[in-house]
Amino acid sequence: MINKVKKAVFPAAGLGTRFLPATKASPKEMLPIVDKPLIQYAVEEAERCNIKEFVMITGKSKRAIEDHFDYAWELEENLKSKGKEAMLEEIRRLAQHQFAYIRQGAPLGLGHAILCARPFVKEEPFAVILSDDIIDPEDKLLEEMLHIYNKYEATVLALERVPKDEIHRYGIIAGTEIKKNIFEISDMVEKPKASAAPSDIAIIGRYILTPDIFDFLAKTPPGKGGEIQLTDALKALLKKKPVYGYLFEGKRYDAGDKFGYLKATVEFALRNNEVKDQFRDYLLSTLSSIMSNKEH
Ligand code: UTP
Repeated sequence: MINKVKKAVFPAAGLGTRFLPATKASPKEMLPIVDKPLIQYAVEEAERCNIKEFVMITGKSKRAIEDHFDYAWELEENLKSKGKEAMLEEIRRLAQHQFAYIRQGAPLGLGHAILCARPFVKEEPFAVILSDDIIDPEDKLLEEMLHIYNKYEATVLALERVPKDEIHRYGIIAGTEIKKNIFEISDMVEKPKASAAPSDIAIIGRYILTPDIFDFLAKTPPGKGGEIQLTDALKALLKKKPVYGYLFEGKRYDAGDKFGYLKATVEFALRNNEVKDQFRDYLLSTLSSIMSNKEH
């Protein structure tokens, strides 16, 4: 596929309060699922779609992200001397792409974080990837969204149906399904009550945006929670231009939330060649002791 989208923006300047105290001095995006930090899963997802320029929006206590994607001379020499070629290759591969880092002076919201990317993105369409939404590497969410962008050359949002009791945590859309799983969006509401929501279809952490979003973001006043909300800017944009959505039916883990993070850890561990057998046996024996405690 010829990609019209060459840059990906990774907002990573949030405070990560749901993971305190772990996130007091270290970035939430560096929390590992088995042996890889959340942000690496996100970067690899973009890599698989042939995106090679990465813009990280960082803030206070986020320097570990820069180190993670940089060359690590001493570590590389050490791995080389021990003949650990596969790990050396993996460590080096990460540093090969172009990374730009922009500090968001204060966590004024996702919309503000994206606006900070403007000097690097300039006049190009770009992907936005929220690393706390982990998409199963077997699923092709971003790739499908890029196909839709190639066809319509307009904003494309990732969508997912969510249970009623989770509606209040998301931006929720109203729209018409114009083709299987492709929606033309007519409205969106940030974190509504389930009773006031226009549907059960939520916006999840993948976006293909066009550079005209920046003017809308610059004019967006602080909304819910005093933050500059991307949803508010998208809502203003969709009055002028079509906005599409792709309804994702694969597997997503909300790793920004403790329970979602634990689910991702268990499922990824059950697929990890190094630990899967041992871990499955451990889970089965833990489960059987939970069951027998329940019976007594
Ligand atoms: P979240 O809503 O998950 O906020 O942000 P958070 O601060 O990371 O975590 P909690 O809710 O306090 O636990 C969604 C994404 O937007 C980024 C975050 O880093 C995350 O990737 N973000 C949010 C920013 O980059 N800047 C902001 O001002 C807010």
